[in-house]
Amino acid sequence: MLVLGIETSCDETAAAVVEDVSGRWDIRSNVVASQVAIHREWGGVVPELASRQHVRDICGVVERALADGRATWADVDALAVTQGPGLIGSLLVGVSFAKSAAWALGKPLVAVNHLAGHIESIWLEHGPIALPAVVLVVSGGHTSLYLITHEGEYTLLGRTRDDAAGEAYDKVAKLLGLGYPGGPIIDRLAQQGNDVAIRWPGTRLTNPDRNAPERDGRFDFSFSGLKTAVLRHVRERQAALGAEQLPREEIVDLAASFQRRVVDTLIDRTFSAARWHAAKSIGIAGGVSANSRLREEAMAKSVRSEIPVYVPSLALSTDNAAMIAAAGMRKLAAGQIAAADLNAAASLPL
Ligand code: KG4
Ligand code: ZN
Repeated sequence: MLVLGIETSCDETAAAVVEDVSGRWDIRSNVVASQVAIHREWGGVVPELASRQHVRDICGVVERALADGRATWADVDALAVTQGPGLIGSLLVGVSFAKSAAWALGKPLVAVNHLAGHIESIWLEHGPIALPAVVLVVSGGHTSLYLITHEGEYTLLGRTRDDAAGEAYDKVAKLLGLGYPGGPIIDRLAQQGNDVAIRWPGTRLTNPDRNAPERDGRFDFSFSGLKTAVLRHVRERQAALGAEQLPREEIVDLAASFQRRVVDTLIDRTFSAARWHAAKSIGIAGGVSANSRLREEAMAKSVRSEIPVYVPSLALSTDNAAMIAAAGMRKLAAGQIAAADLNAAASLPL
């Protein structure tokens, strides 16, 4: 069974060929065309530019994925495409392309939730992990915890009430004039700084989520308070120094202190949820799972608490289409084929 995965939810045009070899997922190719260079100039993703670039790149990226995977169109047994959540104009490029290709080939098409793709990147990398598992999906658009008791079924345990962790990284980097995307830049600078140089105010989430009052919010996240604290700190320092640009020593200390708080919060909530639900394993996926401190702390805590932690390799952490093909395999096995009138959905829930 050979699946062609397609992902265009944000600023990466991606295609991959994944083969199911008697239940084991084998990545034959994983091609990503990044638009970072285009959006960097604007300090963040410009949706209209993103969708236009997807249109330019999609054919070449898919052809490259097939060639790298030593496959032809005739070898493709099914297609899997990201239906949402994401930028609507970007999603539409992938969905339209995949629908057309599936129709032309007479092959089934599966619609995949982008977050399911991030979750399945753990299975794609490591094979079956012990269940029940608690999985943290932490990216530029999402910070959510899921409980998985059966493969392919995801129960939401908690999520961010405001900014996603990656979004906080990107906004803080922008505020400091460090460029886009902020995560990898802050991660690198933080390694040279003092992580206890700045004390941030605590975040308390005692009130229920206004958008979902029925949900128990004990495993929710919030990063907007920290972002505001960073903003206030930077403004104060700029006023004190009488200069826009903070000295490098201050920037690395700020990066380290900010990163420490974000990582501590993510680890703390994830391990609490795992304990609460008696999880046998933990997964961490999504762009921010590429963070060096998050990986180190998660592994150290895994040893202390005797619960295995699984993180995908860097290529499978950030947006890619191999994870979409993997999530597609699950739905294909369950017979969940998309109808011909499939449409993209910007805020598709998982
Ligand atoms: O999963 P992803 O590629 O796209 C979304 O679905 O959002 O995640 C992108 C996010 C960006 O916010 C980026 O700054 C962050 O992941 N990121 C990182 C690191 N690498 C990427 N954040 C912290 N540390 C990193 N090393
Ligand atoms: Zn993503």
